[in-house]
Amino acid sequence: MKINVTINNKRMDLEVNCDEFLVDTLRKYGYLSVKKGCDTGSCGLCTVWLDEKPVLSCSTLSVRAKGKNITTIEGVQEEANEFAQFLVKEGAEQCGFCSPGFIMTVLAMKEELKNPTEEDIIHYLTGNLCRCTGYVGQLRAVKKYMGVE
Ligand code: FES
Repeated sequence: MKINVTINNKRMDLEVNCDEFLVDTLRKYGYLSVKKGCDTGSCGLCTVWLDEKPVLSCSTLSVRAKGKNITTIEGVQEEANEFAQFLVKEGAEQCGFCSPGFIMTVLAMKEELKNPTEEDIIHYLTGNLCRCTGYVGQLRAVKKYMGVE
């Protein structure tokens, strides 16, 4: 079936199967920044925004995106680069495999939470796993980026 969506401000017609998940559709159309880790909704690697809200694209049927705005990290490059500088300064960039999904979650959190506590940040990021287990450095970078340290 055909669905019309907007990806990173570009309107597109996508051909999808009715049981296809958004992560597979996005990768099929060349958005390879969207990573597939667990494929079961547990790791957060596949996080993108659907109408500005973070979703797990491995658990979102592509047809649910019909008529909606999808944002991948390519659509927020300026903000992503700004946050990446904090990761680099804290030595928290590591292997980078979780970075696109992690950064999409952090950017959404910055919009949603004002003056969060450390506990708020940890809670918000609970769904984003890092296989390098670099959580301490990531947390330092996020706190500085959020201006709460
Ligand atoms: Fe989607 Fe792990 S690949 S949550």
